[in-house]
Order: sequence, then C-alpha cells, then structure tokens
Amino acid sequence: MSSRPAVLVLNGPNLNRLGTREPEVYGSVTLEDLERGLRQAFPELTLRFEQHNAEGALIDALHAADTVETAGIVFNAAAYTHTSIALRDAVASLSTPVVEVHISNVYARESFRHTSLLAPVAAGVIVGFGVKGYHLAVRYFADQA
Ligand code: DQA
Repeated sequence: MSSRPAVLVLNGPNLNRLGTREPEVYGSVTLEDLERGLRQAFPELTLRFEQHNAEGALIDALHAADTVETAGIVFNAAAYTHTSIALRDAVASLSTPVVEVHISNVYARESFRHTSLLAPVAAGVIVGFGVKGYHLAVRYFADQA
C-alpha cells in the first residue's frame, strides 16, 4: 500500500480526443498533456488516470476505485453526465467522494448539457475553467488528505 493518498482522474467518452476534438470548445491540450501536468503539480499524491468510452467500463472503474486508499475521484463523465442514471447510481454507491469536472461551461452551451444527473450525488462540481478544472478538483482532495 502506498503511503501517499491516491486520487483517480477518470475521463469519459471522447475525452481521449482532447487536443484535436473541437479545440474552440475544449482547447488544444491533449489528455496526455493534462495527465503530465497533474503529475507535475501533485508529486505528493498517487495519481491514477483512466479514460473509457463505454459506460460499463466507467462504472467498473468507479467500483474498483472505492477503496480506503482512494482519497477521491475526479470524474468528467462527458456526455454521460447528461444521460446516465447507471453512472449516477454508481457514484451514489461509493464511499469515496467524487468531484465532477467539465472543461467547458456547459451552462453556456446547448440546453441538453444544462442537466447533470451526477451533480446531486457528487461532493462538488467544477465547470468551465478548461483543463485547470482538473487541477482545482485534485487540489480539493490534496488539501483534505
Ligand atoms: C464535457 C461537457 C459535455 O457536455 C460533453 O458531452 C463532453 C465534455 C466537458 O468537459 O466540457 O464530452 O464534459
């Protein structure tokens, strides 16, 4: 067991395409850049990164991360945020706190992005600060640990 607190950064569908996907909305930072930046910013944590396009794989990742070693989960469920009761139930089943992150300001976009099924069962939500939002979310857990 590592003595450093662990944080899982979990990304959902299409976020493997960061950097090239709609750069005017999501910026030019790739998922690899994002992960490298977080590792550099938080050497005191054991950071784990997962990205899955499939809903079931995200549910399995949430279940697997729910251990005493995990201080928190930073979760960008991407489009599933707005649709997935199964992911909401998975988050609600955890003892580990989850911070929901969105790169874009979903409230300034299409109305179907204004509803989050996850927000009511998340510890908090960070929206619209670009990839910096992941840093803010990890900082929350680093300060708790
Ligand atoms: C997103 C916002 C979602 O509405 C969208 O489906 C995504 C990314 C964001 O990070 O801004 O894929 O979660």
